[in-house]
Amino acid sequence: MPGLCGLREDFPMLAGGLIYMDNAASTLKPASVIEVMSRFAGSTYANVHRGVYKEAVRATREYEEAHRAVERFLCARPGEIVFTGHGTTGGLHLAALLALANGLIGEGDEIIASMDAHNSNLLTWRSLARLSRARLRLVPVDGEGVPRWDLLESMISSRTRIVAVGHVSNVTGYESPVREIARIAHEAGAMVIVDGAQSVPHLKVCPRELGADMLAFSPHKMLGPTGIGVLWIRQDLARSLEPPLGGGGTVEDVSLEGGAVTPVWAEPPLRFEAGTPPHHRGRRSGRRHRVPREGRNEPGRGARAEAGRENPQPSPGYPGP
Ligand SMILES: Cc1ncc(COP(=O)(O)O)c(C=O)c1O
Repeated sequence: MPGLCGLREDFPMLAGGLIYMDNAASTLKPASVIEVMSRFAGSTYANVHRGVYKEAVRATREYEEAHRAVERFLCARPGEIVFTGHGTTGGLHLAALLALANGLIGEGDEIIASMDAHNSNLLTWRSLARLSRARLRLVPVDGEGVPRWDLLESMISSRTRIVAVGHVSNVTGYESPVREIARIAHEAGAMVIVDGAQSVPHLKVCPRELGADMLAFSPHKMLGPTGIGVLWIRQDLARSLEPPLGGGGTVEDVSLEGGAVTPVWAEPPLRFEAGTPPHHRGRRSGRRHRVPREGRNEPGRGARAEAGRENPQPSPGYPGP
């Protein structure tokens, strides 16, 4: 295939003639990613945000540069990119815990997801519903497995706190009309959390333009390493949220006055990246292996009509701007 000539050589796994077609599950790693990760482990290794010697400063700089690179990739603003563990699943878990820890959901509230959602999307919201005593409601699918988002308006209510959307289905390839879903959700006072596992590798995705409040994706599905995930959180929302669990690197200061532990949280994303992060991966997934924007499809391709407005108007209760 002419356009692919030379590309195979980038992937050591293909050297023996392997035909690999499982990219929706995870992509192979190009030599550049493997080489940089192993060079870091072998010659320039240090922890991030914890030291002032040369290697530590360099590791920290490169880890932060990776955040900047992902920011550019998603048209994001400073502080909106959080590196998590465990791919999209890790990002969705953090989103659910943020809602729980910040009182954005409680007993009697509702979460809406769709029946075709990937298990990491579906089961996360089932867990959150159980933990918060909320109710999970599912948008049905039609005979072709396509979610009936056209029913959202009839399902949503003032009790709906979260609408969880799979942007592109890993089964049918269907692209959900996220802008329209976000418009309806925001009018009802609900947050929109997007599973971008299959869209970010293939489409131009600007979560803010989609009207999302949070969006998760997996670097390992786009030539990056496994074990790391990305959660985009809208800037003002991120600044207003406490992390569900703190840890090293998440605070500016901790006061112990009066026997109480009172943290002053660091600015996002640091407050959400507790403990030593998977930084040997984080540096590389953003900095060294950018997928060219031109290589991705235009947004909206293959989607059903997206009649959404660009700037959804939040209603009271919605932690909007
Ligand atoms: C649509 C969708 N969502 C979520 C996931 C979970 O991704 P990960 O295993 O990287 O957490 C996948 C993985 O295939 C997926 O296709």
